[in-house]
Amino acid sequence: MKDMVEKVESVEEKSELKNVDLEDLPHVGPAIAEKLREAGYTTVESIAVASPSELASIEGLSISESTAAKIIAAARKLASVGGFESGDRVLERRKKIGKITTGSKAFDELLGGGIETQAITELFGEFGSGKTQVCHQLAVNVQLPKEEGGLEGAVIVIDTENTFRPERIIQMAEGKGLDPQEVLKNIYVAQAYNSNHQMLLVDNAKELANKLKKEGKEVRLLIVDSLMAHFRAEYVGRGTLADRQQKLNKHLHDLLRFGELFNAAIVVTNQVQARPDVFYGDPTKPVGGHIVAHTATFRIYLKKSKGELRVARLIDSPHLPEGEALFKITEKGITDKK
Ligand SMILES: Nc1ncnc2c1ncn2[C@@H]1O[C@H](COP(=O)(O)OP(=O)(O)OP(=O)(O)O)[C@@H](O)[C@H]1O
Ligand SMILES: [Mg+2]
Repeated sequence: MKDMVEKVESVEEKSELKNVDLEDLPHVGPAIAEKLREAGYTTVESIAVASPSELASIEGLSISESTAAKIIAAARKLASVGGFESGDRVLERRKKIGKITTGSKAFDELLGGGIETQAITELFGEFGSGKTQVCHQLAVNVQLPKEEGGLEGAVIVIDTENTFRPERIIQMAEGKGLDPQEVLKNIYVAQAYNSNHQMLLVDNAKELANKLKKEGKEVRLLIVDSLMAHFRAEYVGRGTLADRQQKLNKHLHDLLRFGELFNAAIVVTNQVQARPDVFYGDPTKPVGGHIVAHTATFRIYLKKSKGELRVARLIDSPHLPEGEALFKITEKGITDKK
């Protein structure tokens, strides 16, 4: 018993470092950890959200439901899944919120200073509106020194449509006077082949971010471009919509959790659905329904204008006035209109 208390305490200290292995959980030795990983429970978070019967029924893992419940309880404490944070901790965490410049002053002002960490920002708009361009620019800008609107951080990109282009990063890095090779080294890209893989990549992103942290590199931005493409393609028809929304909800909360854990900005892109029935106002709306709308902290509608010009419009933000900003997409990247 004393052993266990010590183990839980050391686990709590470690949770400050956000570097915990399954083996750090009480009752979990190397053999059990191995079985858990084989069954897909690779992180403490994944155990925290499991049910005791789920764990107890894993083949080859001979633990009782009550032991499983204890493991889950410890994992929850550690991952603070479903747990509470005291108000002063929340305040302390929120004081650390950072902002990443978009490259355009007008765009930054619209957002109250830039793209915020510990929040999900959704960029939505039709093809060619600049969603992917803004993502590329942020992947460069987050690496800038703080005085220049960056966070001196690394980036993880979950690319679902194979639109990440290192060549474009090179152009933008040069536009900012940065060494393109160094900038590319700080961008970690993975292709997501389907929605399940996309969700799994968030777990992998946590592992990578932890590993980088140990090496002194902080991940300050996680991009999912595009959030909905796989979900949209895989879940067609009304019957499966509830399933899709449930998975999407989990995915978004995993992303938000990543943002809070690493003080990183989460930027997701979303397509718009044509709505031929709407004659007034904008005949488009983002896909994903109310789940994306409610989980994203900032929703930005991007629209094509003349030539290089684009319009960014902030949609129902809880604490910023609605408004629009004009910016440009040039070879050097995102800049102000003039
Ligand atoms: N090297 C470049 N120099 C200048 N402008 C560029 C360059 N590369 C892309 N652009 C501009 O960005 C546009 C493409 O925008 P982007 O790929 O961000 O669209 P998107 O909103 O991601 O579209 P989709 O929904 O298809 O993913 C091009 O049409 C062009 O106007
Ligand atoms: Mg795109």
